[in-house]
Amino acid sequence: MKHRQNIGLGDINPAAKKIAKQLKGGEILALIGPLGSGKTAFAKALGKQLKIRHKITSPTFTLMHVFAGRLRKNKPVVMYHLDLYRTKNFAEVKALGITELWGKPQTVTLIEWADKIKKYLPKKTIYLYFSHD
Ligand SMILES: Nc1ncnc2c1ncn2[C@@H]1O[C@H](COP(=O)(O)OP(=O)(O)OP(=O)(O)O)[C@@H](O)[C@H]1O
Ligand SMILES: [Mg+2]
Repeated sequence: MKHRQNIGLGDINPAAKKIAKQLKGGEILALIGPLGSGKTAFAKALGKQLKIRHKITSPTFTLMHVFAGRLRKNKPVVMYHLDLYRTKNFAEVKALGITELWGKPQTVTLIEWADKIKKYLPKKTIYLYFSHD
């Protein structure tokens, strides 16, 4: 998978489909872009592809939501969805325990506003840049 991709508002659903097909487990997706550029919409669309039935909403106040889903060939996966908009520092992210989980084979981690913790993200992180056009 390309480690840097630009996604416009009109491309969210096809991009989520394409990326879902390429997921093997262990991916960390940094969702970066201005307010209302489609980061949460992408999480919803990807969740649908991973057969998550639960309604996906922004974890703005909870910081992180956890969902059970399926990759291709019905392989179980846990999707972590973080929104760091209100996060003050990396210690708050670490306190969630996510840094011990992200990157593990049976997980996919989506991080809205990941640019706030850019220097702490693993090397293999895939950067998805969202924009209004
Ligand atoms: N599948 C879709 N394709 C295109 N636009 C969508 C889709 N789903 C929702 N939208 C619209 O796109 C906008 C993106 O909102 P969204 O909440 O995804 O942005 P965001 O980047 O998560 O913003 P924030 O920084 O506040 O978290 C909303 O106005 C929403 O109504
Ligand atoms: Mg959002």
